[in-house]
Amino acid sequence: MRVAGPGARPALLPLLLLLLAGPGESGSPPPRLPTPPRFNVSLDAAPRLRWQPVLRHYDPLFLRAAVAQIIGEKVPRWVHPLIAKVVGQLEYFLPQPFTEEIRGICAALGLDLTDGLLVNLAYESTAFCTSIVAQDSKGHIYHGRNLDYLFGNILRQLTVDVQFLKDGQIAFTGTTFVGYVGLWTGQSPHRFTVSGDERDKGWWWENAIAALFQRHSPISWLIRTTLSESEDFEAAVYKLAKTPIIADVYYIVGGTSPQEGVVITRNRGGPADIWPLDPLNGKWFRVETNYDHWKPVPSGDDRRTPAIKALNSTGQANLTLETLFQVLSVVPVYNNLTVYTTVMSAANPEKYMTKIRNLD
Ligand SMILES: *[C@@H]1O[C@H](CO)[C@@H](O)[C@H](O)[C@H]1NC(C)=O
Ligand SMILES: *[C@@H]1O[C@H](CO)[C@@H](O)[C@H](O)[C@H]1NC(C)=O
Ligand SMILES: *[C@@H]1O[C@H](CO)[C@@H](O)[C@H](O)[C@H]1NC(C)=O
Ligand SMILES: *[C@@H]1O[C@H](CO)[C@@H](O)[C@H](O)[C@H]1NC(C)=O
Repeated sequence: MRVAGPGARPALLPLLLLLLAGPGESGSPPPRLPTPPRFNVSLDAAPRLRWQPVLRHYDPLFLRAAVAQIIGEKVPRWVHPLIAKVVGQLEYFLPQPFTEEIRGICAALGLDLTDGLLVNLAYESTAFCTSIVAQDSKGHIYHGRNLDYLFGNILRQLTVDVQFLKDGQIAFTGTTFVGYVGLWTGQSPHRFTVSGDERDKGWWWENAIAALFQRHSPISWLIRTTLSESEDFEAAVYKLAKTPIIADVYYIVGGTSPQEGVVITRNRGGPADIWPLDPLNGKWFRVETNYDHWKPVPSGDDRRTPAIKALNSTGQANLTLETLFQVLSVVPVYNNLTVYTTVMSAANPEKYMTKIRNLD
């Protein structure tokens, strides 16, 4: 069940308490910046150690308070003792290097492994988002996304662009929150870009926990694995469409050549629908929010129509990363829950850009 629409406010009191608490209580928050910090994470370093250079920039007290807050509000009470009981076994079911990375992060921050694991799963259960993949009149592919989520006051301060290095070179880039090892947004340079939007069908925790024990991948971990392993757009689409995952989701993928753009509607076991760009028939963009594209959106949460209108009035010939950013800035596509906006184009990887939103 979706707990709240984009118009809803997160519970303000606990957030205020967290933010107003003295440094002795919760640690000092990092500065709020319109452009997130960009860090290198070397995949050549051991998984347990590779996040240390990032973590050094953050106050462990602030991060522990953030984790406690998110788990306290997002994880149903019955889940915590259950996961605590099975965390030892779960480690053998969960894919690497993620579990080892979480272990390393927990050790560095003085966090309990159960909490580290839960917060890495908790983000998956309620992300409202808009993703757009589009092709301009010259055949260039552009991809943009808004990530809308509760706890914005915390997450805006923890948003980072990460360059994952292999042999000292950038293997792929992604946007995430410090302590969160999966990716909801990322780019494999000169190959493809990926974003994920929540597709909630209810009973999230029950289904996800059952699926974990069947060795299904968390949604955001599959995005990162795909960025790390897939050779091209087609291979990425295949992997994202077919690999069993722990919950339903929309995966949006952009490539480097004309027509390389698709929205994959996922069930846990496999694809429910594949919706490619069809520019030869005038379908030069695809907009995905949090509803199946073949169904109408609920009247209380229509971000789809405003995005389509804005793209229509931009025009295919005027499409650039800048105009795509403007489309993602039209209310209510852009709304009070929007934490960050990323625009990217795999053919021009250096143009990857994230902005933190709602800073005032
Ligand atoms: C990150 O890695 C890239 C590629 O090796 C390098 O050019 C850049 O200087 C590194 N940045 C930092 C902040 O270390
Ligand atoms: C966008 O443009 C297409 C093609 O002209 C049109 O069919 C569609 O109704 C327009 N949608 C909106 C929401 O303006
Ligand atoms: C591009 O945008 C400008 C200004 O909004 C508009 O006048 C022009 O018609 C657009 N071009 C196309 C090809 O849509
Ligand atoms: C945020 O919420 C306020 C109050 O509901 C509203 O006036 C404002 O337009 C919203 N801002 C955005 C960007 O949706």
